[in-house]
Amino acid sequence: MSIARRGGDVMMTNYPPRPLTLVRGQGCWVWDDAGNRYLDLVAGIAVVTLGHGHPAPATALAEQAATLGHVSNLFWSEPAVALAERLCELSGLQRAFFCNSGAEANEAAIKLARRHGREVGGDGKHHIVSLEGAFHGRTMGALAATWGASKKDPFEPLPAGFQQVPRADVEALRAAIGPDTAGVLIEPIQGEGGVNVISDELLMAARAACDEHGALLIFDEVQTGIGRTGAWFSFQRSGVRPDVITLAKGLASGLPIGAVLSRDLATGFRPGDHGTTYGGSPAIAAGALATLDVVADDDLIGNAQRMGDRLASGLRSVPGVADVRGAGLMVAVELAAGDAAGVAVALRERGVLVNAVTESALRLIPPLVIDADQIDLAIATLQTVLAARD
Ligand SMILES: Cc1ncc(COP(=O)(O)O)c(C=O)c1O
Repeated sequence: MSIARRGGDVMMTNYPPRPLTLVRGQGCWVWDDAGNRYLDLVAGIAVVTLGHGHPAPATALAEQAATLGHVSNLFWSEPAVALAERLCELSGLQRAFFCNSGAEANEAAIKLARRHGREVGGDGKHHIVSLEGAFHGRTMGALAATWGASKKDPFEPLPAGFQQVPRADVEALRAAIGPDTAGVLIEPIQGEGGVNVISDELLMAARAACDEHGALLIFDEVQTGIGRTGAWFSFQRSGVRPDVITLAKGLASGLPIGAVLSRDLATGFRPGDHGTTYGGSPAIAAGALATLDVVADDDLIGNAQRMGDRLASGLRSVPGVADVRGAGLMVAVELAAGDAAGVAVALRERGVLVNAVTESALRLIPPLVIDADQIDLAIATLQTVLAARD
């Protein structure tokens, strides 16, 4: 029986049907179980920073797992501390907490903001403001900060004290942030919402209002972090400094990890406030450190910028493309005729994997190792597909 049939019989029904069974990957290429090759512009949803099958995180993981794979947070281990030091150095922030996913990182950041808020402003200071179009994860707190009734309604009641404001309305944001606000949670570029770039004006207004009211400004860099937008972290492009950032996806190039980085808060977590069994496990931390080394040594951030520019300018010249938005290798293509899902299927049939992030937009988030020939192939294939639909 096929993997798809077997999976359909035993896996829960929370995901839509999956079109392919993938068996192997190398760089930006993946192969399915029928031997077909695809150019992968999904990268495990912006995760596989170094491309598939990169030896660096695999070797680091294997060696550390064979030496000391997991110890829990009852003990120190060198790889987790080294990873915290590296991330603090890269971000200019001062403290790290490790977990296992993006949702968990946001969950921890929300708790950090509430712990801090109560400390500086009393019990009422627990409100969390986020933006319409936001996606922060599927756990209950992260979901409360996420936008979209279809994702949330079946799971009500969600935690109280969350509010979303329109993503381009600076006045609404200012009005929503007040003495009761503990934290403001923003993706600098909204990923799942459609690759929506949040304006510097709004980010600056959030910074000023957080300063005025003693709230923490939290940037969700789960998707934008680790070089994807052409900087280590997207906030470094805007110049607006957050108090906290959350990371996951690209941090260990496919190994499960999440992280929260914060400035040194006198009113941060106390022992016992928060934790997770696997967070910062030596084996995963070693894989993350190896990933960061390759990103730096191979100038993948420069590559993300150069290849992102090439991708965006090429896509803009394709007939049928109404708009291209994003930064670096986090790009959305708005299709003049809509039907992003249909176009994604047609691209797949021609050997290119993308995902339809809205009804009319495709999202392109390839590994950061993508080269010019692969970028040109992606553009040419989209041109062929759109021309055939004319
Ligand atoms: C910006 C952002 N935050 C949080 C998450 C949730 O991450 P995870 O799926 O690892 O829980 C995602 C996932 O797509 C994301 O894009």
